[in-house]
Amino acid sequence: MAQAPGPRRVRVLGTGGTIAGAAAEAGDVLGYTAGQIGVQQLLGGIAVPGVALQAEQVANIDSKDMDWAVWQALAGRCAHWLAQDAVDGLVITHGTDTLEETAFFLHHVLDARKPVVLTCAMRPATAPAPDGPQNLRDAIAVAATPQARGVLAVCAARVHVGAELRKSHTYRLDAFSAGDHGLFGDMEEGRLRRLREWPRSAASARRLQAVLAAPQPPRVEIIGSHAGASGRLVDLLLRERQAQAPDAVQGLVLAGTGNGTLHHALEAAALRAQAAGVTVWRSTRCAAGRVLPHAGDRLPGAGDWTPVQARVALQLALLEGRRDAAL
Ligand code: SIN
Repeated sequence: MAQAPGPRRVRVLGTGGTIAGAAAEAGDVLGYTAGQIGVQQLLGGIAVPGVALQAEQVANIDSKDMDWAVWQALAGRCAHWLAQDAVDGLVITHGTDTLEETAFFLHHVLDARKPVVLTCAMRPATAPAPDGPQNLRDAIAVAATPQARGVLAVCAARVHVGAELRKSHTYRLDAFSAGDHGLFGDMEEGRLRRLREWPRSAASARRLQAVLAAPQPPRVEIIGSHAGASGRLVDLLLRERQAQAPDAVQGLVLAGTGNGTLHHALEAAALRAQAAGVTVWRSTRCAAGRVLPHAGDRLPGAGDWTPVQARVALQLALLEGRRDAAL
């Protein structure tokens, strides 16, 4: 007689966020502190049939304070667990505020042949009706799905490709969209209804090693174009470079108007920066769409990456000694 398959084995890595947030008053869903409750405690009372869970705390922070050291630790632990035969998938609990940056980073750094599923909450764990437990259950179900792969994110029963999503609402429970890309899937009765192919990562072991070995990432700043914009911020950054400051700027992402267009004063300063050796990419401040290339562009466009995604992409490119907007 054939043996029944064993449970799917999912590791849950905690990094903090509202999903781990606590308020002094249970009814307070605004005045709470993110990153207070440990991931083991978050898993208390969460059971997904056919899934064996193990927890690990990587950090416990408000994700607005996300930094390179936490990303390095997280990438290192994900790579470690993905390489274990005894692990079928990973879930990461994370704050919503920079979830899109972490998801984009992990998509481009991990060779995720198994699923890595980020999840979050918009209400703290102490709220009368927290959304975190259901999001966590859904993320575990996705991570336990046979043949699943790639970096994904689950929030409010909607599943997004990690490299595509962006936070699109300040307080709704369904706070994410994937711009023009559309949904990856829906959660229906605790199961994934997949609408597209599993995402494939373009990451390499070499890139992961470069990330883990870098004490600091190349400094890349984001500057917006707007009515009345000037080039003064760019010039201040250039002055630091001229003074040979150790962490002087190496890259700039300009959040342009419309199709990545720039106020003429900002554009002039950006070209000065480029001439001085800074890598400058143009992104758009529009909520959807992409920067279409045009013959004669002097500053490359960053395609459909949001400014914060383009910043991560430029850091990774510079780490690998590249300047082109392709990962
Ligand atoms: C955070 O990003 O850590 C706080 C906000 C949230 O999770 O919604």
